[in-house]
Amino acid sequence: MTQSGQLDRALALEIARVTEAAAVAAARVRGRGDEFEADQAAVDAMRTELNRLPIDGRIVIGEGERDDAPMLFIGEEVGTGKGSVVDIALDPLEGTTLCVKNLPNSLAVIAFAERGSLLNAPDVYMDKVAIGPGFEQGLVALSKTPTQNIEALAEAKGVPTDRISVCILDRPRHTDLIAEVRATGAAIQLIGDGDVAGVIHTTNPHETGVDIYLGIGGAPEGVLAAAALRCIGGQMEGRLVLDTPEKAARAERMGISDPTAIYGLQDMASGDVIFAATGVTSGNMLDGVKFSPGRIETHTVVMRSSSGTIREIRARHSDLGKFNGD
Ligand code: FBP
Repeated sequence: MTQSGQLDRALALEIARVTEAAAVAAARVRGRGDEFEADQAAVDAMRTELNRLPIDGRIVIGEGERDDAPMLFIGEEVGTGKGSVVDIALDPLEGTTLCVKNLPNSLAVIAFAERGSLLNAPDVYMDKVAIGPGFEQGLVALSKTPTQNIEALAEAKGVPTDRISVCILDRPRHTDLIAEVRATGAAIQLIGDGDVAGVIHTTNPHETGVDIYLGIGGAPEGVLAAAALRCIGGQMEGRLVLDTPEKAARAERMGISDPTAIYGLQDMASGDVIFAATGVTSGNMLDGVKFSPGRIETHTVVMRSSSGTIREIRARHSDLGKFNGD
């Protein structure tokens, strides 16, 4: 951290190397059907790049706990240990299934935040509602029904509910939610995976066709999406789904004293936050990694909450056998 309490602004450029490297590694095995291979490639590349950064980094949101994927584990220390003190939320390959099926919107994602300012969410599910910027605070909320949220958003936009499009993960657990949303007349964009992108897509409905995100996805992905919305603007609430004593105990061990708490953006990611995502497969927001003889192209978005700057970085890397993150 700098004296002002903000993260070192140079990190807002350095961070891109980390997601670029993970995205390239995952993209090399894109469409091959092997989730373990893709996760492992992304994790290894991300760890290597993180350890080159001048940070004293600690991972607070890692990946893999829920599905035994290869992990950059919670509590792991990364970086050279000499620079800015940061807490890190990451998902080296968000949307593993999308990547190995070569479907849109798989990403390499990471967020840096001031120490102690990210929610230490266990790898359980989280109920989420999110919309983009420009609306009265509290317009949508988990305390409201899906119908009430859709109606409130439609009214605020000055459109009928059948002009609202809702992004929902295509899961059996959402059968009732989907039926309720359909009854409002709203359209649904059902996604197979990747709700970090699903939430971020609410910030640009014109391009993505998504006005509101509703439903249950991963809690780590919730914190990552919250970090992004802290930078772009928008509203989000999340509530952990602690539906077994084992999950409740795990959450308690991670410092969650109220299992029914509803978390807003600031509760999930406060202070100065830097967020980066690189496309693995092409999607509404980012192009996927492109390989051509001797060359690799990546498309990354980097955002910072304290400045509100959103940078898109299109990089051309020389493919000298192995991507080296330079
Ligand atoms: P991975 O990055 O682990 O592949 O997660 C993909 C994802 O679709 C997330 O975007 C989402 O939050 C979560 O899985 C939903 O979990 P589940 O697949 O168990 O419904």
